[in-house]
Amino acid sequence: MRQHVNPLSSNFHEIERIPSLIEIFGDSKSNLHLDIGCAGGEFLFDLALVNNSWNYLGIEIREKLVKTAKLKVCETEIKNLYFVFGNAINILNDVENKFIIKNLKSISFNFPDPWFKKRHFKRRVIQPEFINNLSNLLQKGSLIFIKTDVKDLFDYMNCTILNNLNFQAIDKKDFNYSGSFNPNKIQTKREKYVIVNELDIFESIYIKI
Ligand SMILES: C[S@@+](CC[C@H](N)C(=O)[O-])C[C@H]1O[C@@H](n2cnc3c(N)ncnc32)[C@H](O)[C@@H]1O
Repeated sequence: MRQHVNPLSSNFHEIERIPSLIEIFGDSKSNLHLDIGCAGGEFLFDLALVNNSWNYLGIEIREKLVKTAKLKVCETEIKNLYFVFGNAINILNDVENKFIIKNLKSISFNFPDPWFKKRHFKRRVIQPEFINNLSNLLQKGSLIFIKTDVKDLFDYMNCTILNNLNFQAIDKKDFNYSGSFNPNKIQTKREKYVIVNELDIFESIYIKI
């Protein structure tokens, strides 16, 4: 399977419409967390089991991973987890899918593809217009979690989010998770690799004000 796909390719212009929350979750009223670039969904399967009072949604651009994850959801009959295939930016910028952003309590971007070359920065999933769209639709108090092992990518994401005045960084030491569930309690697949290989992790949390 290809490790990296170009999200700007015309293959991803057509997008999957996300069914209503009632159609995809057992309890549509539960708090909703979105993981962008969820790969095979290992992190979300763990979260959905550990914290079954929340609903979890994953968006991933590699179709084969999404097909396998969807199959696993069916087999395990988990009612608080759903996967969507495609470029997260196109999916969430689509008017038909606005309701998803409006219903989110939190979003995670865990170890996004770094796209090291400057001419490829536009392929990165965190883009100013996308952050602007999120800031317009997210409820106040919603959280964004970012995590990466690439310092330059962290600086770029941090700067892009903070350039939007509707987001403020929260010091994780001061942050009180009461009423919320901290997704950082669970390690992602990439994070496990990063820890085993003793690489640095750069992370931050932002709140919509
Ligand atoms: C380095 S992997 C990290 C996977 C996982 N979050 C983890 O921490 O183990 C980045 C993932 O983001 C996906 N991805 C990259 N750009 C994307 C986009 N625009 N929309 C959705 N998924 C994307 C990639 O296919 C890949 O699975």
